[in-house]
Amino acid sequence: MNRQLLVAGNWKMHNTLDEARALMKELRKKLDPDLDVEVVVCTPFTLLYPMGREIDGTAIKVGAQNLYFEPKGAFTGEISPVMLKHAGCSYVIIGHSERRQHFGETGGLLRRKVVAAIEAGLDVIFCVGETLEQRESSATIRVLDRQIDEVLKPSLDASRVTMAYEPVWAIGTGRQATPEQAQEVHAFIRGKIKGIYGPEAADGMRILYGGSVKPGNAADLLACPDVDGALVGGACLVAEDFAAIISAAAAARVG
Ligand code: PGA
Repeated sequence: MNRQLLVAGNWKMHNTLDEARALMKELRKKLDPDLDVEVVVCTPFTLLYPMGREIDGTAIKVGAQNLYFEPKGAFTGEISPVMLKHAGCSYVIIGHSERRQHFGETGGLLRRKVVAAIEAGLDVIFCVGETLEQRESSATIRVLDRQIDEVLKPSLDASRVTMAYEPVWAIGTGRQATPEQAQEVHAFIRGKIKGIYGPEAADGMRILYGGSVKPGNAADLLACPDVDGALVGGACLVAEDFAAIISAAAAARVG
């Protein structure tokens, strides 16, 4: 199966409008527009619409980092899937470990968010990952199995879901999973998806790796047969580094 690789940048809570414009301008300069890689930048809410305009005419897409599952109403401070869609958003990250850790997001809430995002026509990057303690107590597979079961119900349109395996111990730490560790978990995730949605869906679904992906380690990770792209935090804030990771993704499928 020739899955098109996807490289998504997670800006997290970074960039003012001026900084964002400068970064995007730089990225457009550094990026080869002919690369066969899907590229998404997931910005803070305030930057979705202006960044959508910055990337107009390019193949880059804009994504959000969160949403609320209701379409509208008295939910002070929240943003609905429809609002994201109308702001020019194509993707949304759901289940990032920082949302789980700092904002108490649990499986039930994440399931509602994923369902609402797909209903609104958004593509979802659904993140799973174990903590260091869980890895060290050999609980990785059990944890991921539960995280997937809680959210990915058989009724969901799986063609709109991209998985992201992000070991919590690798996020922002400079310590990434080895290609062997990543491949082992990605193969498990694909098998799990096969069990829920069948072989075709499993074959077509992209599974990204995230956690300290840098220009120096991207090629080895992306060379793994079940690693279909990257979810990049820190390195996506530097145009040159993000562009280098995207080039590594393009080279991975050729090589
Ligand atoms: P990192 O973040 O690349 O800075 O480790 C990845 C993420 O949190 O998605």
